[in-house]
Amino acid sequence: MRIVVLTGAGISAESGLATFRGPDGLWEGHRVEDVATPEAFERDPELVHEFYNQRRAKATQAQPNAAHFALAQLAQNHELTLVTQNVDDLHERAGNRHVIHMHGALDRATCTVCRWDWQAPAVMHTSDHCPHCGSQTTRPDIVWFGEIPKHMREIWDALDEADLFAAIGTSGQVYPAAGFAQHAARAGVRCVELNLADSANGRDFAQRIIGPASQTVPEWVASLG
Ligand code: APR
Ligand code: ZN
Repeated sequence: MRIVVLTGAGISAESGLATFRGPDGLWEGHRVEDVATPEAFERDPELVHEFYNQRRAKATQAQPNAAHFALAQLAQNHELTLVTQNVDDLHERAGNRHVIHMHGALDRATCTVCRWDWQAPAVMHTSDHCPHCGSQTTRPDIVWFGEIPKHMREIWDALDEADLFAAIGTSGQVYPAAGFAQHAARAGVRCVELNLADSANGRDFAQRIIGPASQTVPEWVASLG
């Protein structure tokens, strides 16, 4: 079967990484939306670096959970396109080789002047120099609010050709990812949602499985054979 899976912050919640819109969705009193924007980075780049430095450290310490491992198993048995909005690397560390990071990745850095990208150091600062052009214009290679997500052509194509689309642990509030189910359903693709609670776009899915990802995802993967 050709399966497209979209994951969100909920799949990493049980690995100890905070979601964006949950009760712990604040960072030192800032709404995440107020740190994860190009405007915030222009206003206070050191604060934005600090936010991502902390998240990078947290992600490094975290371990993949049963849901991440189950998706690695899914890739063994099916033609899986794994798309994540997450910037952690828990899918890779669970064994998924090809992961489409549509919102970028904590372990990558980029230069706002020459667009070079490279492996991010554990701690980034405004005083860092771009390894390519030398200017002090480095930033995390993360897609911020108002910026265009990565790899969209590849994702829409995979959705058009899929037999099954599953959204796991995402609140369905951030586009374009929140529109994948509607797009897929129109193309005749069966859509299933796995979430701990109701999401904003639940009615776009033919099937909904409610519960913690570490339990629901392994069961769902097993049910697909
Ligand atoms: N198992 C399954 N789902 C869970 C769990 C869990 N253990 N814990 C939380 N969830 C669900 C919540 O019910 C919620 O629907 O995960 C979802 C998390 O939602 P958000 O915090 O909004 O995360 P996400 O949908 O990934 O956010 C999308 O917004 O801030 C931007 O770029 C950022 O990629 C992010 C995007
Ligand atoms: Zn540069």
